[in-house]
Amino acid sequence: MIINKVSCQIDSANQNQWPFNVPAVRQIIEKGFKFTKPVTFLVGENGSGKSTIVEAIAEAYGLDAHGGRAGRKFVNDRPKTPLGEVVELHYTPIWAKRFASPRSRKGYFLRAETAFGFMSFVTGLPGYWEENVMEMSHGEGFLTVLNTMFSDPGLYLMDEPEAALSFSSCLRLIALIHRLATIGGQVICATHSPLLTALPGSEIIELGPHGIERVPWKETSLVNHWRRYLEDPDFYLRYILNEEE
Ligand SMILES: Nc1ncnc2c1ncn2[C@@H]1O[C@H](COP(=O)(O)OP(=O)(O)OP(=O)(O)O)[C@@H](O)[C@H]1O
Ligand SMILES: [Mg+2]
Repeated sequence: MIINKVSCQIDSANQNQWPFNVPAVRQIIEKGFKFTKPVTFLVGENGSGKSTIVEAIAEAYGLDAHGGRAGRKFVNDRPKTPLGEVVELHYTPIWAKRFASPRSRKGYFLRAETAFGFMSFVTGLPGYWEENVMEMSHGEGFLTVLNTMFSDPGLYLMDEPEAALSFSSCLRLIALIHRLATIGGQVICATHSPLLTALPGSEIIELGPHGIERVPWKETSLVNHWRRYLEDPDFYLRYILNEEE
């Protein structure tokens, strides 16, 4: 474990403003949030605050909120997000010593939304990958990046990494995430994937109007919706399609 807690203090005048009014963020402000496992998945409906929190952790760690590796920002002078400005990361004692300087921090932020533009920009630059990912499919490019960048123990943040990946590529990603955890790294991943979240030994936190809740895989809304959908798509579709008429 590298980070065992996030907390945040804000001026009470800002508490009704975004992002401090998002219930999950509000919970971090009120109680802080403790990480208990090397791999944490953030799940929840669109707009529940997953990206807001992952981006803020990235920025507090020294990663660019638009993606990339630690210790070297893609764009140095970009202003931080409002939560990134104030969130505080609590390091475990071993890592606090190792990471005394932000430049010594290792890690990577893989953000599906911006990854492709970023990947084309850094291909061939020192510290990145040699392969021309622009000549690969979306998913192949992603796997190349994952294979090269996900190696050292460090903090790995991901926002919907499954977006470009097939079922079998997602399984490869699970293996990579597991490897990072076993070599002493930490992974914090926002996802809508029932496949990724099934990784044994990981913790799933569900974000929603209630704030943040730790939920076993089988009890997440994500898994329950997928299970019911795969068993009987019609159960959902008859409502949705009738609504459209
Ligand atoms: N720059 C912004 N200014 C104001 N509100 C924002 C901004 N960015 C996001 N929001 C709002 O904050 C809330 C949380 O957004 P966020 O992107 O963190 O959700 P998410 O859980 O990552 O959703 P998704 O699953 O769609 O990626 C949403 O209600 C969103 O509309
Ligand atoms: Mg998001």
